[in-house]
Formats: sequence, C-alpha cells, structure tokens
Amino acid sequence: MSHSPNIRYIVKAGGRLQGSVRVAGDKSMSHRSIMLGALADGITRVTGFLEGEDSLNTLKAFRAMGVEISDPDNGKVTIKGVGLRGLKAPKSPLDMGNSGTAMRLMCGILAGQDFDSTLIGDASLSKRPMKRVTAPLALMGARVDSQGEKGLPPLVIHGGAGLMGVEYELPMASAQVKSCVLLAGLYAEGTTTVTEPAPTRDHTERMLRGFGYDVQTVGNQMSLVGGGKLTATDIDVPADISSAAFFMVAASIASNSDITLLHVGINPTRTGVIDILRLMGADITLTNEKEVGGEPVADIRVRSAHLKGISIPEKLVPLAIDEFPVLFVAAACAQGRTVLTGAEELRVKESDRIAVMANALQSMGILAVPTEDGCIIEGGQLIASAAPIDSHGDHRIAMASAVAALRVASGEVVIADCANVNTSFPGFVELSAGLGLAIVQEVAA
Ligand code: S3P
Repeated sequence: MSHSPNIRYIVKAGGRLQGSVRVAGDKSMSHRSIMLGALADGITRVTGFLEGEDSLNTLKAFRAMGVEISDPDNGKVTIKGVGLRGLKAPKSPLDMGNSGTAMRLMCGILAGQDFDSTLIGDASLSKRPMKRVTAPLALMGARVDSQGEKGLPPLVIHGGAGLMGVEYELPMASAQVKSCVLLAGLYAEGTTTVTEPAPTRDHTERMLRGFGYDVQTVGNQMSLVGGGKLTATDIDVPADISSAAFFMVAASIASNSDITLLHVGINPTRTGVIDILRLMGADITLTNEKEVGGEPVADIRVRSAHLKGISIPEKLVPLAIDEFPVLFVAAACAQGRTVLTGAEELRVKESDRIAVMANALQSMGILAVPTEDGCIIEGGQLIASAAPIDSHGDHRIAMASAVAALRVASGEVVIADCANVNTSFPGFVELSAGLGLAIVQEVAA
C-alpha cells in the first residue's frame, strides 16, 4: 500500500474555489477500454484515458500477455487487439497494484484462457476479499486458487477449464463481480446471466455493446451468450465523476465559490453523488449534456450552498459508492445530522472507509459515530487536528481530507500517506491549485 518515498499533504485552512477544469479520466472506463480493446479484433483508439497507476497496471498486464499497446500520450492510447483467443501466457505474475477492479475483472478474463496465470497486488489489495469472484467462477467450472477463508490474493488461475454459462444472483451490489462473471461468460458455453440486487455501474455492458457484443439487460438481469467476438472501436473516456466529486463538495462547502467541471461522465449508475448533494441543498446545474460513445456526459456547475444533514436513501448508496469519503466531509459541514446506512461495502474498499473517515472527522472535532453499515455524522465546526490525518494509503481518504481543510477554522491540515492519490487522480494537487485549493506536497521522512 505504501509507496516509497511517501507523500504528505499540507493544506492551509479556509479558501474559496473559482474556475473551470476537466478532471482525470474515468477509472472504471479506462480499465475496461484496455481490457476490451485487447480482446477485440482490430485497432482500438482511446482518448481521455486515465494515466493513473491503477489503469496503467491493467495496460502493463495486457502487454505482458503479448498485446501491443502504445504508451499513453495525453490520454491517447492505441491498442492492437489480439481477439478473444489471442492472449499469450504471461512470464511472471500480473501485478494489479492497488486496484480491486483490475484484479476482479482480470480474474474473469483469465479464467477463460488456456494458460495458467497469477494475479498479485499491493498490501491493501492483498487484504481484499476475492471469494466474491472466485465463487461464481467456480460455478462456471473455473479453477482459481486463493488464500484462506476470504479468498485473498494472490490468485492462481488454472487455464483450460472449459467454462459453462451460469445463472448467478449477486449476493451484494457489485459492478466488479457482475463484470467478472460477464467477462468470463464471453468464454463460456451457452448463456451467462447475472442478477443484481440493486443497480450498479453498467460500463461493462455498455462498452461490450460498443464493441459489437450483444448484452441483454432486462430489469436487474444482464445476459450474454459466449463464443462471439469483439470488434475494435474508438472510445472517448469522459472525466471521472468520482474525481469531480471532490470539487463538487469543495465548491459547495467553501464560501463564494463557483466552479464548472467539464465533460464529466454522468451515467445514471454513477450520479448518486449529485442526487445526495442536491438532497443536502447543494447548488448543482448540468449543462452541455450529450452522449459520447454510448455514455452520457455534461459540464457540472457547482456554487456555494448551505448544506443540511439528511438520511441518505439506501438506494443511492451503490450509485455513489466511491464518493462517500468526500460525502462524509459534506455531512461534517452541513447543518444537523446525516445518517448513512446500507453501506457495509465501504468496509472492504481500499481501506475500511467507514472507520477511517469517522476517525479523520473525529480528529477534526466532528462527532462521527461509525455503525456496522454506515455512520452518523453531526455537522459542526472543523478544527485542525493535532496529529496528521492518516489516510491509510487510501487515495480517496487523502483527497477528501484535503477538501475538509476548506472549512477548518484556522491553522493547517496535515495528511499522511498520500502517494496513492496517483492511482486514480494524477494531477489532483495541480488542478486543486488552479481552482484555489492550495495543497503543499512534502516527501515524508
Ligand atoms: C468499480 C466498481 C465499484 C467501485 C470501484 C470501481 C468498477 O466496486 O467501488 O471503485 O469499475 O466496476 P464494487 O463493484 O465492488 O462496489
């Protein structure tokens, strides 16, 4: 989890935000663009690709399996697809770094190959549960070895299993598990059907269709028939709403702020953060709405607002799953109490985001009471914590804590272990500075 040398952020209390920016490319779509581009017949050209560590690890993994992929240049990447059956056995374990998405989706693809492979990750990823993907893959006939009860990485995937289609009911609302099973389904005999308990991001389904693969969605069921082929296409990756969310909250909580976030993906399975902030009283307007390559995008204008505490509707939780660290900050700055329930998945993200964010807010003087599946947060005055805030190497905790500084009474907020911001949002510090949130980065001893 920790990179060496490590970085800490020092953020002066207060400030306001003004201006327009395009934040980093969407991480979910960037991973998928490499995966499907590599497995397609023909050349796929991607623009807006996220040059963050997570998606770069996915890119390297496919290179290690013989796929020619250009070095990303200003978000442009060209992939010479090898077809669904064209990957070659990697010579060493594939390192997915910090990324649960990469490991879980790759597991589905690799289960369908005729060679053996091994997936490894960093300290954080090595503690994340993989049984949620190995269980359905086993039902399809895959042979994947993992470690211990929870099925932890490393994952050893035995090739040549000969997969069978499956009807699988997801035990949790997880786009990663859904995607893993559907990707394995490309290699399976017959139909693979996944039923989800609540809507989750549907980029895999949309992108598969963009590559000419028929995916049927009926209500909460998605299915495809194995044995088809993917045809190369061009992909325009919009800005990541999960990265935009930091500035949406920042401009809402800071006084005299008015910002516009450009060309942000607003797929309805990702816009829970907008709905939740609006319920809290945020001033958010969407303009320039259009569809680009099968995904809706818009410019998002956000102005300062007096936020109020709410009970977050549980149906919005999977649609805002990555935005809770910064939504906790919004709740801390709101008037009254915010109650989050039905969010136990936050406990198995890059860190236990319920515990880690509750701690961070408590150290800034806020009453935040973690519960098994959420948190109760009383809005109040934030103060500079005596000790540095420990992000636990979690990129989104680090960025959310930096945003909190905008409403700290005086002094400065120091945040430890911030190197992993590069996994999802390279350029966060520079873009923040452009909008008026000055973060000093220091190499920690
Ligand atoms: C992702 C799905 C989500 C999300 C992750 C990206 C994806 O995870 O937290 O950052 O790209 O499919 P779950 O589907 O496990 O909730």
